[in-house]
Amino acid sequence: MVSRVLVAVIAGDGIGPEVIAQALRVVTYFRDERGLPIDVWELDLGADRYLRDGVTMPRDVRSRIEEEASAVLVGALGDPRVPDAAHAHDILLGLRVGLDLYANVRPIRALADSVVPLKNRASKDVDLVVFRENTEGLYAGIGGHLRRGTCDEVAIEEDVNTRKGVERLIRAGFEYARAHAKTTVHMADKSNAMRHAHELWHRVFFEVAAEYPEIRAEHGYVDALCCRLIEDPGAFQVIVTCNMFGDIMTDVGAALQGGLGMAASANVHPVLARCCGGQHQRPPIALFEPVHGSAPRMAGKNIANPFAAILATAMMFGYLGWPEAERRIENIVARAISERQCTPDVGGPLNTIAVGDWVVRELMASD
Ligand code: NAD
Ligand code: IPM
Ligand code: MN
Repeated sequence: MVSRVLVAVIAGDGIGPEVIAQALRVVTYFRDERGLPIDVWELDLGADRYLRDGVTMPRDVRSRIEEEASAVLVGALGDPRVPDAAHAHDILLGLRVGLDLYANVRPIRALADSVVPLKNRASKDVDLVVFRENTEGLYAGIGGHLRRGTCDEVAIEEDVNTRKGVERLIRAGFEYARAHAKTTVHMADKSNAMRHAHELWHRVFFEVAAEYPEIRAEHGYVDALCCRLIEDPGAFQVIVTCNMFGDIMTDVGAALQGGLGMAASANVHPVLARCCGGQHQRPPIALFEPVHGSAPRMAGKNIANPFAAILATAMMFGYLGWPEAERRIENIVARAISERQCTPDVGGPLNTIAVGDWVVRELMASD
């Protein structure tokens, strides 16, 4: 294992800095009180910086991230003052794609019964993981405008799906299922309408599935699958899907786990992570972030739920080889909800900083 691990932090825009501030208190606790060898490198990147000097992601910062960091922790990027989201595109999508973090791993897990909004369902019924393809699809950025601004305008966004990209994401889902003794993997596509791109998904899914005979492979069209996700979330353990469907499906899924303030995610290169984990000079880089965005209307009010950011930090700890720290954080968040030591979106009376205060106090007390 490495001597020290460098974590680059991009708090970003809107509520990003507010929730990341609380996540960093958790990092500081584990560094100072539990001796985890973490160095935090806070980056001044986001809409303010972009509006100040036009910089999105400086080349030297990007190089140092690639050469030295093991993780990037992101708050959120997106600001109404930057309507084309140029900075968010460069920073967030730039890192996901540029670092080839092809699996966006998004657990949909309810940590307490009280956050599950469905009739006759409890937290035991909401425990699945979405593997969202993270480097291509409709996010590939290939397209353009013709006759822009006229009544004859044409806007094109190409859906790019490569055999390699589709196969490696699907395989990541099956490998995860095998490693965690899951019995079923679902794949959400729209091969009935997108008869080229998603025919590829459909075919490759069953080809890869044949290599995992102990795991049941189930296909669902994304529309019907979303319906079933609400009707019967317990039917799902692992879902693999394309970039855009994964984006949408995980916001729907967030509603099953207490809302966007509770949903965390990891952006990883699973093959590198498996090959190198623990033995390499340093773990291959990965990016951790809440599923939510910058929620501009909540920003600056100290009311955002910091748990998604704190749970993303927990995922980061697990990834970096400290699963005990990950479990401790998850347990404390679960207890915070059941004891109502949380923000109003999950049933409590506290503000953002007060939640952080409670979490740090509990961590200290349970030493
Ligand atoms: P959003 O996730 O920012 O907010 C949607 C709603 O979810 C909010 O109005 C609020 O009700 C709730 N919510 C979100 N986070 C919460 C939290 N921590 N605590 C309590 N409630 C919370 O989505 P949006 O409004 O569609 O997007 C706002 C901006 O964020 C846009 O610029 C968008 O592009 C960007 N965005 C960025 C990321 C990212 O950086 N990863 C993700 C999603 C959206
Ligand atoms: C997310 C966000 C991003 C995405 C946006 C900000 C580009 O919605 O992380 O879910 O679509 O991937
Ligand atoms: Mn999203």
